Amino acid sequence: MADAPRLAELANNEKVSINLRDGFPNPYTLADAEKFIGMCLKHDPAQVLAIEYNGEYAGNIGLHPGDDVYRKSAEIGYFIGEPFWNKGIMSRAVELMVEYGFSHLDIVRIHTGVFEYNTASQRVLEKCGFKKEGVFEKSVFKSNRLWDEVRYALVRTAFG
Ligand SMILES: CC(C)(COP(=O)(O)OP(=O)(O)OC[C@H]1O[C@@H](n2cnc3c(N)ncnc32)[C@H](O)[C@@H]1OP(=O)(O)O)[C@@H](O)C(=O)NCCC(=O)NCCS
Repeated sequence: MADAPRLAELANNEKVSINLRDGFPNPYTLADAEKFIGMCLKHDPAQVLAIEYNGEYAGNIGLHPGDDVYRKSAEIGYFIGEPFWNKGIMSRAVELMVEYGFSHLDIVRIHTGVFEYNTASQRVLEKCGFKKEGVFEKSVFKSNRLWDEVRYALVRTAFG
């Protein structure tokens, strides 16, 4: 919870929110940060973790398991504050989260969708071994426009 003020500061950035669902508040307030962290703290084992860089809070990464027949899959989601971009931090965080997910959560598949213009996030997933599974044309309505979404997944290879 001590990270809440810095989370609010880093998340309150249109260059961040433009890449995320509208459920990610914009503007992003301290109350939003406290509510989000409060939700994260309820999961055991943890599903959302803070990303630290040189001991400093820099962003979040989370795995959200599906339900019903999708319960062996999880969606990965992440963001890092703009001062930390392009240092390889998210690529490392995704690698670590994949390891964590496959060892601590009962899942065999990790997937996500990236808006067509978010080439940095597509690159992160490709660097981490995710496979591009397809393009969902015009599936995203964001900033009053339709966009394609690029879908990626990584399947745990040891699983049959
Ligand atoms: C996208 C995001 C997660 C990237 O995090 P990061 O820590 O900067 O990522 P990394 O440094 O590990 O890797 C970024 C890669 O994208 C590349 N890249 C950066 N900007 C790019 C651009 N505009 N076009 C193409 N590639 C780009 C970098 O060169 C790097 O690739 P490289 O290692 O081959 O050089 C970060 O910018 C972010 O949190 N953005 C806002 C929220 C968001 O987009 N979340 C993901 C939603 S799917």
